[in-house]
Amino acid sequence: MGDEVVTLRDEVLRLTREYTGALAAVSTEEALEEFRIQWLGRKGKVTQLLRKLGTLPPEERPAAGQLLNRLREEIETALAERTRVVAAAAQEARIRAERLDLTLPGRRQPLGHLHPITLVLGEIKRFFMGLGYEVVEGPEVETDYYNFQALNVPKDHPARDMQATFYLAGELVLRTQTSPVQIRTMEARQPPVRIIAPGKVYRNDADVTHSPMFHQVEGLVVDRGIRFSDLKGTLAAFARALFGEDRAVRFRPSYFPFTEPSAEMDVSCVICGGRGCRVCKGEGWLEILGAGMVHPRVLEMVGYDPEEVSGFAFGLGVERVVMLRYGIDDIRLFFENDRRFLAQF
Ligand code: FA5
Repeated sequence: MGDEVVTLRDEVLRLTREYTGALAAVSTEEALEEFRIQWLGRKGKVTQLLRKLGTLPPEERPAAGQLLNRLREEIETALAERTRVVAAAAQEARIRAERLDLTLPGRRQPLGHLHPITLVLGEIKRFFMGLGYEVVEGPEVETDYYNFQALNVPKDHPARDMQATFYLAGELVLRTQTSPVQIRTMEARQPPVRIIAPGKVYRNDADVTHSPMFHQVEGLVVDRGIRFSDLKGTLAAFARALFGEDRAVRFRPSYFPFTEPSAEMDVSCVICGGRGCRVCKGEGWLEILGAGMVHPRVLEMVGYDPEEVSGFAFGLGVERVVMLRYGIDDIRLFFENDRRFLAQF
């Protein structure tokens, strides 16, 4: 065997040790590719040696060629094996990273809430239903007749200015109060009548205690011998049930065209404890309802005999009750749909 081949054999032995060490250090797909280029690529170490074959004497070329080809095959096999190992390790790592922890608690769906107005409306209804009242409803788009005239407010009466009305086409209005339901109910039935009528009403009003759309609960009781003391006792019991025994309430004389005598009921302001604030406008009291004895004219207009029966009625502002109930200092919060606000109730 010629000297050249012996030197080549040494070189091959050296390279074998070298690539074995290099390959063992390879642990990523990028490093595998780098290794392939370095050893088997067009300018790789083995290719360079193969190119040198041509410079050997012809009789030595076959043995040298065999030696180099075997080296290349060895490296190819080792590279394929290493590629398999690296891929398996990479997959293992991925699986470990993605492992599901079945003991983790699930993500909770946020629960919706009843609106505070809905909650308090429910309490109000339950209180009056407990006293034997029936719940009835009426339309929000109302005729001028039911919203005003049948309630003893003729067309040119100055009392129309008490409520900033949204007039619609023709003889229609957005009802400014739930009182028209009194008329619709009395027209449809004979005494005794004992109803409440909850619902939305509309006025051109807006500040911390006034909203252009708000809720009222109308109450109406008509029977033989109904007196003002029945009205006062009922409303005082209502205030105690909703606001607690300790909260002060007061009745003030007032005026409504459809009741005589008329009154308003105030509840001592929860926001300031009665000292005076922007919610109670410095008064220490918040007005929650208007009330009175049904006017004889109203009874006559629905065909009842005021000599036979008498009645009391009241109209309660629901938002005001909710504000007092929960200590809310601005009525506009109810209609902003901020879930952080609504989720508190
Ligand atoms: C009336 O609407 C009468 N219909 C009440 C009534 C019924 C009297 C039966 C006699 C017999 P008043 O306009 O005062 O009255 O409104 C009644 C209540 O609604 C007020 O006490 C107040 O609590 C509430 N309220 C009035 N305007 C607004 C508003 N813009 N926003 C929120 N609440 C209001």
